[in-house]
Amino acid sequence: MERERERGGANIPGKGGLHNEGEGADVRDKPVRVLAFTSGKGGVGKTNIAANIAYIFSQRNRKTLVLDADMGLANIDLLLGLTPKYNLYHVLKGEKSLAETLVTGPGGMQVLPSSSGIAEMTELSRGQKLTLLDAVNSLEDRPEFLLIDTAAGISGNVTYFNSSAHEIIVVTSAEPTALTDAYALMKVLYQGYDRKKFRLIVNMVNHPTEAREAYERLRHATDHFLTVALDYLGFILHDPRLPEAVKKQKALAELYPSSPASRCLQDIASRLCGEMPGGAEGGSIRFFSSRTIRSSRE
Ligand SMILES: Nc1ncnc2c1ncn2[C@@H]1O[C@H](COP(=O)(O)OP(=O)(O)O)[C@@H](O)[C@H]1O
Ligand SMILES: [Mg+2]
Repeated sequence: MERERERGGANIPGKGGLHNEGEGADVRDKPVRVLAFTSGKGGVGKTNIAANIAYIFSQRNRKTLVLDADMGLANIDLLLGLTPKYNLYHVLKGEKSLAETLVTGPGGMQVLPSSSGIAEMTELSRGQKLTLLDAVNSLEDRPEFLLIDTAAGISGNVTYFNSSAHEIIVVTSAEPTALTDAYALMKVLYQGYDRKKFRLIVNMVNHPTEAREAYERLRHATDHFLTVALDYLGFILHDPRLPEAVKKQKALAELYPSSPASRCLQDIASRLCGEMPGGAEGGSIRFFSSRTIRSSRE
């Protein structure tokens, strides 16, 4: 019910919106393409993948904003060696505007940092979530891509951010536990949120066939038990350069652009950069107009 209200109630015509509103949308209103990077199990590489794809997109002059939506264990700023003054908390409290909070990261990407350990942020209210996404929508200089780095699991924040995305990119390793959790996440998003399309990245593999096999196993389960389409987006090789880059607080694709995992990330970025795939579902949640953010600051 709550969800239905979110979908229906929030569907107030605004100026453009995060979603393609079809005819009448002019160039300035070009919709932001929202990609969520998500996983059932933690530690499978979501944050590194989101940060590196954001770097690669930005380098290719595709304006990209990455949103750290892991409110419990926020760390994208740390990963990129950024020291933001403000974060999402200040935006949600109405103390700072989104534009004041954004920081510029490597390659010119924009980052909306989050904050760890603020209990009240681990489950945002419906109004806060709407405020946040509406603020992105209302930015004067809107990005072409919004990459959302979600927390692991199936909390309300995670399912909300996934519901709001045009494309849900499930990240997993080839381990059976990660695959089982990836399946559980897709099941929740399918049964509870009517999402029927997912794209899969298999990370930390030693060989492409290991990733393919993991994909086939997961696909076998989704084909049998859920009516969803699972698209194979690609694999990322296990690469000792990646933890090195993490230690140096740099994006791998910047520090070691020709390392094995960087090459895989470049390939995945190229696939994602293409046109919106014909079957993209679009987010199932619409957002308030720019009035929402203004009123939250009054
Ligand atoms: N392709 C890879 N090769 C080697 N190590 C990796 C790779 N991907 C991720 N890791 C390791 O896994 C850790 C967790 O990655 P992270 O992006 O923080 O995961 P998540 O955001 O899903 O929790 C990284 O710090 C790194 O040490
Ligand atoms: Mg993470």
